[in-house]
Amino acid sequence: MAYFYSGGRLKVGAPGSNGTDIHDLVKDQTGPVYIYDLDNVVKRFETLKAALEGGGTLRHTIHFAMKSNSHPAILAKLASLGAGVDTVSGGEVKLAIEAGVPADRIILSGVAKTEREIEYSLSQGIKQINVESPQELARIASVARKLGKTADVAFRMNPDVNPKTHPYITTGFRENKFGMDESFLPELIAILRDTPQHLRLRGLTQHIGSQLFDLAVMKEAIEKTIKVHRHLETEGFQLDRLDIGGGIGIRYETGDEEEELSLVRDYGRMVREAIRGLDVELLTEPGRVLVARSGLLIGEVQYIKRAPAKTFAILDTGMHHLMRPALYGAKHRVLPLHDRGAKQNYDICGPICESSDFLAKDVTLPELHQGDRVAIADAGAYGFVMASRYNAHELPRELVVENGVIVN
Ligand code: LLP
Repeated sequence: MAYFYSGGRLKVGAPGSNGTDIHDLVKDQTGPVYIYDLDNVVKRFETLKAALEGGGTLRHTIHFAMKSNSHPAILAKLASLGAGVDTVSGGEVKLAIEAGVPADRIILSGVAKTEREIEYSLSQGIKQINVESPQELARIASVARKLGKTADVAFRMNPDVNPKTHPYITTGFRENKFGMDESFLPELIAILRDTPQHLRLRGLTQHIGSQLFDLAVMKEAIEKTIKVHRHLETEGFQLDRLDIGGGIGIRYETGDEEEELSLVRDYGRMVREAIRGLDVELLTEPGRVLVARSGLLIGEVQYIKRAPAKTFAILDTGMHHLMRPALYGAKHRVLPLHDRGAKQNYDICGPICESSDFLAKDVTLPELHQGDRVAIADAGAYGFVMASRYNAHELPRELVVENGVIVN
């Protein structure tokens, strides 16, 4: 998504084009609003798909990690392009089905699947359950027996690599609660052998973390998982899937889409190389890389407060609507909808009664006035889905734009 100012107004579109005036899109809205650009989601999906296929005929399915954004219009659009989804709760499975994602393209992940969630998912006929522990496998077996069904499962491996990202979003390191190492295999295999009519092991899965840029670490994790895959084959299991998770990062600070699309192409090449010779359907679970860039969170300046040490621009939106800056120190670009020429340094804060309620700190921006609208960029992933009604504020509205017009 390229943002630029023309005639002092924030536009989105190809530089040099007329672009779409963001203010026109939101002028009839009151209160904070998320806007998603569907065309951007499609472009990024197609780029990832082409990168994975590399001009060849890779057997694969992209399962969009809908925890990053579960807006039904986005789910429906991706499903229409052939995508499935990766879900982490019964609630997400239900949302996906309601949005029209075929059940046989739904994966259920998550570390604490309840009996009800497993029962609901199996009765819907989903594609695969990614298993996090032997106890969970035993629970899936017992629910499948009760339903008279066979559950297709994949074991989530913890390849013990350090993916060098924010500690709150690493998942494939030995100290994380996610996945299992090889020491779990005997117990898992015993459960499989005990219940062959209700469990079918389709393959392995892994997801080592989020906001990743180091392809070498990602490759190491895939290779470690493939070793276990080969070992299970020697134990007599016929595995026909390999799920390598998601995790590709984006450059929040610069907004440089070209750099990350080139990372996506390198990722595709790396994956094809890592899985060469393996006869499986490849499954991926990207979230952020598909939707982060498509989203803007727009709030309105309520007050400009000039304190001796700082100038605060206090908005009607904050950490309750976009938690990433407060939780991970994430740096989202701040784009005022109007550029009057003069610049000023601000801390951009919200209405919540906590000092962690900021969207950006120490940023130099076009001068802001009370009543101005401000867009927070790259908020399409882990934005609205993590929003809360803390302090009894309303949730923001969500608008979906396609070809420059609001469609939803
Ligand atoms: N698969 C599994 C099993 C996951 O746990 C995740 C994300 C994904 C796929 C998608 O990862 P992605 O491609 O989006 O990196 N709230 C944090 C991110 C949490 C990620 C949790 N798991 C943030 O705002 O940065």
